[in-house]
Amino acid sequence: MCGIVGYVGEREVVDVLFDGMRRMEYRGYDSAGMALWMEDKLEVIREVGRVAELEKAAHERGLTGHLGIGHTRWATHGGVTVENAHPHSDETGRFVLVHNGIVENYLDLREELEHLGDRFVSETDTEVVVHYLARLYKGDMREALLELQKKLRGSYALVILLRDDPNGFFCVRRGSPLVLGLGDGENFCASDVPPLLPYTRSVVYLDEGDIASVTRQGASVWDETGSPKILDVHQVDWDVSMADKGGYPHFMLKEINEQGAVVRSTLKSRVTEGGVDLSDELLWTEEQVRSWRSLHIVACGTSYYASLVAERALSKWTDLDVRVDIASEYRYRTVRTDEKTLAVFVSQSGETADTIAAQRLARGLGAHCLAITNARGSTLDREVHDTLLLKAGPEIGVAATKTFMGQLTVLYLLALYLGRLRGGISAVEEVRLAEELNQLPYKVEATIAREESVQHLAERYAGCRDFLFLGRGYSFPIALEGALKLKEISYVHAEGYAAGEMKHGPIALLDDKVPVVTVIPRDSLYEKTLSNIQEAKARRSPIVAIGTDGDELLSTYADYVVTVPWTDEAFTPFLSVIPLQLFAYHVAKLRNCDIDKPRNLAKSVTVE
Ligand code: G6P
Repeated sequence: MCGIVGYVGEREVVDVLFDGMRRMEYRGYDSAGMALWMEDKLEVIREVGRVAELEKAAHERGLTGHLGIGHTRWATHGGVTVENAHPHSDETGRFVLVHNGIVENYLDLREELEHLGDRFVSETDTEVVVHYLARLYKGDMREALLELQKKLRGSYALVILLRDDPNGFFCVRRGSPLVLGLGDGENFCASDVPPLLPYTRSVVYLDEGDIASVTRQGASVWDETGSPKILDVHQVDWDVSMADKGGYPHFMLKEINEQGAVVRSTLKSRVTEGGVDLSDELLWTEEQVRSWRSLHIVACGTSYYASLVAERALSKWTDLDVRVDIASEYRYRTVRTDEKTLAVFVSQSGETADTIAAQRLARGLGAHCLAITNARGSTLDREVHDTLLLKAGPEIGVAATKTFMGQLTVLYLLALYLGRLRGGISAVEEVRLAEELNQLPYKVEATIAREESVQHLAERYAGCRDFLFLGRGYSFPIALEGALKLKEISYVHAEGYAAGEMKHGPIALLDDKVPVVTVIPRDSLYEKTLSNIQEAKARRSPIVAIGTDGDELLSTYADYVVTVPWTDEAFTPFLSVIPLQLFAYHVAKLRNCDIDKPRNLAKSVTVE
């Protein structure tokens, strides 16, 4: 989605804004723009394309100053044109603003304003907002923003410059994220934390409906009723090196390589040799835990696939009736959600619009809501009853890798913890599983170390146009995730399927040009999956197998075998996903794709 950054202070604003915009390009990047105070004038510049295009144009114009706002756009309303790029202004140029979100009633507002004589130059909802603000403003921006909020329906984070006020910028948010960064004689705002990291770790997450005025000296915040708020300042424990490539050619490769560390830090102080204990974070009573009958897990994209893996573990280790849903489906159909439901919302960003809406629905129906997210302070984190954080650090590559690993880790901790509390798992079994869990960081690292073999695999098949990914049981969601990764970053068509379903359709697609990538660990379904490999082989498909170390048999069936270390059946997804992430990465690289910023995709989808 769109990314916003704002700055006021001593530094060169152009540098701060470009640095921030580059760190946020993962949110959307079909066009970009900025507005800044240069001497005594507000200058606006906008370009179609990457931030680099805008940077070139800004340097050519010699822009410089100490107060400004920037925006990277991911088009929703109106095509990718300079006119539609942000910032937008009212007709007099007195108000200039950037926006992330969608104002749903903008057509009505636009009609109202057109009757009053306003003329618009773009197709955007944002231009309507700035025109409306200009009409509401009577000399006090807080008052005007309170009034504006009454008019707008939908989601918005707005950052505004006013021609009469060279001292700072104003913010308002509802439904879209906005974080203030507090420095010494300088202050910032951004859609997300990474742009702030080079300058400050003191942040204020604005709440729904909050209004802020930010100057060099500080920030004032009012709630949606206009009452002043005491700033709730958080110290983030991420540092700037976490948001840099650290010598890797792409963020995605760096993030794949961080996965051992992610599992290790996510397990830290939550699992001991005796088992899992989350009681410091989840203040659940025994009675409460026993009252739950069903467990709903709701998510989108890769987070949904992590949830599908966990569904299997949760069903095995607890007596709960577990179901997993895609958030955009869950929110629009009848679901039996009530006080006897524990509803878990899995979202890396904590800002996915559908997941947030699903949470609100479940909460309204009485469910106890738990978020699993990487983003402390995100909308999801702030709205649920409880949160379990992944300790993944910022993920910049659009295609999720290390956060998938972190989500799996947290979901498994939850499964084991619920298993213990509800008596679904014996003490001996818990100790055995906890031991294996503690081994996982090493096994994850050992798997990543086999990158070269996956690279050769990619070299062999990078020219293929279609792939089928198969798996059973715990490996089925991994087949889905493997296919998704390949689609996302290399634009190659790939289908993920339950191996047993292949005969019900996809087998018709198979021939010697369609490789079948089969996730086949040495588990209880091994032989069944082996039969599916034979079926595909009989249709002349090249067979790639992701198996377990020591499995000699596989090479007699498969054209290419990549193995991963042995682990308990339930934990195999932690390892088998890695070769598939690396495969997608290397295929994308060989096809010269923009790996960290795949076309049309955004890292967090803050609109429906
Ligand atoms: C987008 C991203 C995916 C991500 C999905 C859900 O589609 O490109 O990588 O899995 O959103 O995001 P969330 O932040 O809710 O996990």
